[in-house]
Amino acid sequence: MKYPRLLSSGANNRVIALSETEVAKLFVDDTRSDIGSEAEKMKFANKINGLVVRFIRIGYDDALQAEQLIMERIYPIDYRAYEVEKRELWWEVFEHELHQLHAAGFVHRGIKRPSNLSGLAFDNILLTTQGLRLIDVGISALLPQVGPDLFEKYRQTELQEMAEFHEYFLNR
Ligand SMILES: Nc1ncnc2c1ncn2[C@@H]1O[C@H](COP(=O)(O)OP(=O)(O)O)[C@@H](O)[C@H]1O
Ligand SMILES: [Mg+2]
Repeated sequence: MKYPRLLSSGANNRVIALSETEVAKLFVDDTRSDIGSEAEKMKFANKINGLVVRFIRIGYDDALQAEQLIMERIYPIDYRAYEVEKRELWWEVFEHELHQLHAAGFVHRGIKRPSNLSGLAFDNILLTTQGLRLIDVGISALLPQVGPDLFEKYRQTELQEMAEFHEYFLNR
């Protein structure tokens, strides 16, 4: 099937542009990921702060026979467009907001993609002129669902991946 207005084929799901302000992540029958839980996790993070991309609504595209997770459209820019001093400030906001999410019981888990997957390691972190944003809560975890021990393990991994991202973001 040919997808019109395709933005990215992603690691699991295709993302298409709906308008200048909205994109849709497509979930077709054979995807193993669950649109409902991804939407719930996104809404949870949206209540805490503005780091995770804004959920808009769930839809269905008859022609594509795909469920759509419709969200705010982000226009990412290259890190190298901005001075390192400026990136440091954006990093500090990012770190603060991610710690806020952790404290609220949300861990993203997709900061860095596993090295066996091709593509950019940090492609779930997008830089905009207003700072860093997170997309793709597909494998994110909420404390009540995974319990304190697993949550803490995930959080520790995330802290390590944040440190790797910090290094990359400033030196790219
Ligand atoms: N809100 C968005 N605005 C703009 N582009 C997006 C948005 N969400 C996803 N994308 C693009 O689609 C790609 C795949 O989306 P993602 O949610 O990461 O899916 P996957 O689970 O397949 O990795 C992203 O790497 C990015 O290029
Ligand atoms: Mg992704």
